[in-house]
Amino acid sequence: MKKKLIAGNWKMNGSSASNEALVKALAAGMDGKDCLVAVCVPAPYLGQVQALVANTGMDLGAQDLSQHESGAYTGEVSAVMLKDFGVRYAIVGHSERRQYHGETDALVALKAQRALANGITPIVCVGETLAEREAGQTEEVVKRQLAAVIHTNGHCISEIVVAYEPVWAIGTGKTASPEQAQEVHAVLRAQLKAATPHADRVHILYGGSMNAANAAQLLAQTDIDGGLVGGASLKAPDFLSIVAAAR
Ligand code: 13P
Repeated sequence: MKKKLIAGNWKMNGSSASNEALVKALAAGMDGKDCLVAVCVPAPYLGQVQALVANTGMDLGAQDLSQHESGAYTGEVSAVMLKDFGVRYAIVGHSERRQYHGETDALVALKAQRALANGITPIVCVGETLAEREAGQTEEVVKRQLAAVIHTNGHCISEIVVAYEPVWAIGTGKTASPEQAQEVHAVLRAQLKAATPHADRVHILYGGSMNAANAAQLLAQTDIDGGLVGGASLKAPDFLSIVAAAR
């Protein structure tokens, strides 16, 4: 059985001082962990956190990347640059990027492709809004979002990580129930199975108000292979409890 993956998404939080304290506290609690662990940090801190996670068993992640290889794209960060800092994962298509930066399914697919081409595992986020869920469109929305990535990435699709993050559960304290999450994860797994014989290798993470109290139940579901954790990843004891629940 594959190990679960617990990835922290720090979002736009942190400082040199708080990062150091947080990663040191995490490192001190990593003994005996039985899963993969990553922290996805703001770009300016990649160098700092690269040094802090060295030899801790934790991997480094970024929160976004450019779809372009290099050139005149002011403000963008390339996959090659991320690789230069030892980045293993890059989140792509987070709902906050889709919502506030107009990222489309097609753009997210290109970003995933750029990551894969440079040996970085894209964590592709999909998820419906509350209005979409209430309109009975959950399945249609997540399938459309994943289909774009499958279409662009073909046989490489078994190399991605998928994160199901219902938008209504992000930062709201409202978690999808384990059954609600499993239902969507099963849909995503079936979609991956239709695209690759290696779909069982793909980690499908749940994200949205995952915390120390609800992690074990979510992670016990058949198709939930880990978590993408926002708020709770900023507090060492909480993140470590989630890591401990991932067995
Ligand atoms: P919260 O855990 O704060 O709800 O955030 C989830 C998320 O968006 C992770 O990418």
